[in-house]
Amino acid sequence: MADELTPETPEEEQPKKTHKQRKNGLYPGVSDELAESMRTGWADTELHGLEPIAQAAHTAARRAALSARFPGERLVVPAGRLKTRSNDTEYPFRASTEYAYLTGDQTENGVLVLEPTGETGHTATIYLLPRSNRENGEFWLSGQGELWVGRRHSLAEAEQLLGIPAKDVRELAEALTEAEGPVRAVRGHDSHIESALTDKVTKERDEELRVYLSEARAVKDDFEIGELQKAVDSTVRGFEDVVKVLDKAEATSERYIEGTFFLRARVEGNDIGYGSICAAGPHACTLHWVRNDGDVRSGDLLLLDAGVETHSLYTADVTRTLPINGTYTDIQRKIYDAVYESQEAGIAAVKPGAKFRDFHDASQHVLAEKLVEWGLLEGPVERVLELGLQRRWTLHGTGHMLGMDVHDCAAARTEAYVDGTLEPGMCLTVEPGLYFQADDLTVPAEYRGIGVRIEDDILVTEDGNRNLSAGLPRTSVEVEAWMARLKG
Ligand code: GLY
Ligand code: MN
Ligand code: MN
Repeated sequence: MADELTPETPEEEQPKKTHKQRKNGLYPGVSDELAESMRTGWADTELHGLEPIAQAAHTAARRAALSARFPGERLVVPAGRLKTRSNDTEYPFRASTEYAYLTGDQTENGVLVLEPTGETGHTATIYLLPRSNRENGEFWLSGQGELWVGRRHSLAEAEQLLGIPAKDVRELAEALTEAEGPVRAVRGHDSHIESALTDKVTKERDEELRVYLSEARAVKDDFEIGELQKAVDSTVRGFEDVVKVLDKAEATSERYIEGTFFLRARVEGNDIGYGSICAAGPHACTLHWVRNDGDVRSGDLLLLDAGVETHSLYTADVTRTLPINGTYTDIQRKIYDAVYESQEAGIAAVKPGAKFRDFHDASQHVLAEKLVEWGLLEGPVERVLELGLQRRWTLHGTGHMLGMDVHDCAAARTEAYVDGTLEPGMCLTVEPGLYFQADDLTVPAEYRGIGVRIEDDILVTEDGNRNLSAGLPRTSVEVEAWMARLKG
């Protein structure tokens, strides 16, 4: 689908067309009569009396906190732009987390600007593409025209929905270039806006804004906790769907599992928060196995790490390691039960006032004990942990913050995150694992090619924690019973 030229462009000024375009007739002329016809005969579809979106009060509170942190400075937070995949096709758009967090909006090209009102306080404006102009042909002849990409909200509609005054984003770059005074911008999403600010911003000051917005998201409000639970509940249904089709996956490949989980996300109006890891057999030992093109064999394990992302952009991040034929072998069970015990110790360490690192240390302690007990490492356990020797098989950290990004709050300072303290409202994954590579000559052959991870989404509460993903079984015995029930 090619982008067309405006009818006003004289023939001689139109760019040269490629042979293919001419041959396929992709740029037929636009007669005056057709142009006139396309201008008229359209109903007024403006919407009135719209209710604010569910998170509008929460986004207002987030903007107020941001305003208090950076008094007297202009703050610019872009949603981002479409990225070209090839020629006229684009990657699916995903608004920047910072923009969506502060506005509740997810429209490409949108920009939130907080304009200082004096020494304290700001006024917020959201800059958006308005409805397409039908008079100048933009509506049907431009690639951003609504005939091609769908109806947008008018600026008045956006104001009602978001609770933020809205202006035309096409006026923003010039206004930013001309504006005086200190300014900070969230980088990496919109090069057009960044160009307009080149002489006015510094990397260090912009980074402070990014860090603030990462740390501000650590404690989730009630809306966010509700959305995370929805994401997890849908993910639970996706895992159930996968168990029901494992025999079909055996006849095809890991792709069947990937597609089945994605179907659940889509039929419920959602997306996935990261590429699903559908790792059968030894692929489970590749931490981010997203090729998902391998065989699914009875007798092997399936490590499924997948998460539904809600329409509001909150994602689950859950892993279960399942016996493809429904029953763990002795060695699979031994490794699985060790990881389960490690996860239990980790989850027990998640509570307000605990250090973020505590659950990792608790989980790793159990895994080191098991590796010594099995004769794979020489004790004592404290020596193993001090030297980090268990990491040959545990490979990764035991968890991370979870929210709008699967690895949420990633720009937070070390003292506020990894060296920080847990508070009610934080949500994190607890996901220990053991991975014995297929070519690892330091372990007995029976271990090789087995990878196990168990991952749950844990909310810190006033008096401990709540496992948001408790809807999925975790012990080996419960997993087998659950699979037997689903497979009928
Ligand atoms: N799904 C990536 C992770 O568990 O961190
Ligand atoms: Mn995961
Ligand atoms: Mn994770």
